[in-house]
Amino acid sequence: MRILVAGATGVIGHPLVGALRARGHEVSALVRPESRERAPEADGVVVADALDREALLSAVSAARPEVVVHQMTALRLLDDDPVAAFTLTARLRTEGTANLVEAARAAGARRLVAQSIAFAAAPAGEPVLDEDAPLYVDAPDPGWAATVGAVAELERLVRDSGPLAGVVLRYGTLYGPGTLYARDGGAAQAVLAGQLPLPGDGAGITSFLHVEDAVGATVAAVESEATGVFHVTDDEPAPAAQWLPHYAQVLGGPSPRTVPAALAPRLLGWFVAHQMTAAHGAANDRARTALGWKPLRPSWRDGLGRE
Ligand SMILES: NC(=O)c1ccc[n+]([C@@H]2O[C@H](COP(=O)([O-])OP(=O)(O)OC[C@H]3O[C@@H](n4cnc5c(N)ncnc54)[C@H](OP(=O)(O)O)[C@@H]3O)[C@@H](O)[C@H]2O)c1
Repeated sequence: MRILVAGATGVIGHPLVGALRARGHEVSALVRPESRERAPEADGVVVADALDREALLSAVSAARPEVVVHQMTALRLLDDDPVAAFTLTARLRTEGTANLVEAARAAGARRLVAQSIAFAAAPAGEPVLDEDAPLYVDAPDPGWAATVGAVAELERLVRDSGPLAGVVLRYGTLYGPGTLYARDGGAAQAVLAGQLPLPGDGAGITSFLHVEDAVGATVAAVESEATGVFHVTDDEPAPAAQWLPHYAQVLGGPSPRTVPAALAPRLLGWFVAHQMTAAHGAANDRARTALGWKPLRPSWRDGLGRE
């Protein structure tokens, strides 16, 4: 198939281009003008900023894709300019997605596969939630509420993208090369410096996902006829009280100290405190059944902190 990958220089997008080509697909990479020299090896390269509607329309139509894959975020800016990282990522999820849906339709594509997140659900109900659980659009933290609002809008745009067949892949917390949890990533550095304590009883649950499994699930979604919203997560949702000490040990860092849960938002920021004390996990049964996918790394224990 002819496939266009938007976000082709990214942690997921870059290896995804190679994985799709290895399956025999003809893959074009969409890259921003300033990132052209970092484009992956591909069958074609088209250049546009997704927030520039006219440029995106003409780039996508030049690639004539049958399937369009959306892997665009600005999270790479997190270390240097977190405000810009979240603001731009929200714009990519709203305006950027709307532009991409319009461009994919205009180019005659039949399918759109888009990246979302598996840790945006409101913390209520079962400890591990399916895709029907409500999103935390009314989170008490305005920043997280805005992020989840943009995620909800992305998912709405993709679900309502007819006649395009829309697929939303809600990836778990990514680990592996290039991610925050890589040995050279921000989370590892914080653990090694003893700056990531365990708040309270550490009962908040994280569903992890290795980057390789994000790529594998995306290939499966491109090749499938299934539509809808799918959690793409490993098989072992884990409370912080389990994964954080394990991660610290694998990294060779100090054992995380415990801090009172009430102090966590001030020490760690609202989102990290929420994730480690209250968040629920995400079940992957639907992706397994509908996409015929299963994780090659079923447990974060197999690799978190090793690379
Ligand atoms: N190492 C760290 O400490 C660190 C920090 C933050 C995030 N991360 C990790 O990165 C993961 C995210 O991976 P990801 O693949 O989703 O994101 P990513 O690696 O940041 O890739 C995002 C893609 O979107 C593209 N993009 C951004 N703005 C665009 C625009 N306006 N128009 C068109 N394309 C645009 C980027 O292109 P450009 O190359 O042109 O920007 C890039 O190809 C996170 O889960 C996290 O683990 C790691």
